Amino acid sequence: MIYSRIAGTGSYLPEKVLTNKDLETMMDTDDAWIRERTGIKRRHIAADGETTSDLALAATSRALEMAELDADDIDLIVVGTTTPDKVFPSTACIIQRRLGISGCAAFDVQAACSGFVYGLDVADRYIRTGAAKHALVIGAETLSRITNWEDRTTAVLFGDGAGAVILQATDEPGIISTHIHADGKYEDLLEVPQGISNGYDVLRAQEAYIQMNGNAVFRRAVATLDSIARETLEKNNVDKHDLDWFVPHQANLRIISAAARKLDMPMERVIVTVDEHANTSSASIPLALDTAVRDGRIKRGELLLFEAFGAGFTWGSALLRF
Ligand code: UT7
Repeated sequence: MIYSRIAGTGSYLPEKVLTNKDLETMMDTDDAWIRERTGIKRRHIAADGETTSDLALAATSRALEMAELDADDIDLIVVGTTTPDKVFPSTACIIQRRLGISGCAAFDVQAACSGFVYGLDVADRYIRTGAAKHALVIGAETLSRITNWEDRTTAVLFGDGAGAVILQATDEPGIISTHIHADGKYEDLLEVPQGISNGYDVLRAQEAYIQMNGNAVFRRAVATLDSIARETLEKNNVDKHDLDWFVPHQANLRIISAAARKLDMPMERVIVTVDEHANTSSASIPLALDTAVRDGRIKRGELLLFEAFGAGFTWGSALLRF
C-alpha cells in the first residue's frame, strides 16, 4: 500500500503587525472586546504589492528545506486560497513558475477556510494512487485585501499568512484519513458577493469585501466541528484520548475551546495561534502546524487531528501520524 506523510512544514507571515490597539485608532472597537469575544491580540498584514504567491513561496521554501528536497522533486502543487494573485492563471501555476519548475499538475482549490484540508485530501489521494510522489500543499491568503476596514464586525477578525507542507509517498501512514464536506445552502451567511460572472463592477465596491453573520456562523461551526471529529475518529476506530494534538482552524478561541472540550482535550494539547495571527482562512492550519513543529511541541510519530470549517459552508478533517 502507498500512503502519504508530511515530510516538511513551512510558514510565512508578512512583516507588518496590526494590534488590537492599532485597530482602536481606526474604528469603534476595543482591545478587551476583541480578546474576550475572539481571543485575537494581533494579526499580520501584507505590504502594498505583496501577494498571496509571495507569502506562499516563502512558506514553501521553508517546507522544502525541512523535507530536505528540491523544488524539482515536486510533482503536484495544490493551493488552497480565496485570495488568488489573479483571476487566472491559478496561484498554483504562478508558484510553479516562481519555483523554476514546469510540467507537474498545479491547481487551486477554493474551499475558503477549509482550503488546506481540501488540498490535503486531494494530494493524499494522488499519492495513494501513485500519481504523485511529492506533493506541495499550500494554504495562503491575503485576506486584508477583501476586508472592509470600515466594518468592525469583520475587520478585527482576519489576517494574512501562508503555510505549506510537502507530502511524500511512503509505505505506512502518515495521513490515516481525510474527510471533506460541503453544504452550499449557507452561502448568504458568509460570503464576498462581488465576483466575475455575476458582473464585476467597481461601483459595487462594498460587495468586494467579506460579509458575515457572525452569530449564525459561530453556532454552525461549533456543531459541525463536533460531528466531523466524531466521524473521523469512528471511521478509524480511534479513541479521542489517543490523540496527541488537536490542530484546528483558527477562527475564534471560543470555537476552538468548544471543539477541544468535546474532544476532552486539555488546552495544552491544542495548537492555538489565533491570538497572534487572527483568522488566516486556508493558511491557519498549516501555520499552526508549522509553529508547533518548529517550537518542538509536535514530534514525529504523534497522532494529530486537523479540523476546518469555512464559507460554503465547507468543512473537513484529517487524522494523521506526523
Ligand atoms: O473562518 C470562517 C468561520 N468564521 C467564524 O468562525 C467566525 C464565527 N463568528 C464569530 O467568531 C463571532 O460570532 C464574532 C467574533 C464574529 C462575534 O462575536 P459574538 O459574541 O457573536 O458577538 P455579536 O456579533 O453578537 O456582537 C455582540 C455585540 C454587538 O453589539 P450589540 O448589538 O449587542 O449592542 C456588536 O455590535 O458586540 C458588538 N461588536 C463589537 N464591539 C466592539 C461587534 N463587533 C465589534 C467590535 N468591537 N469589533
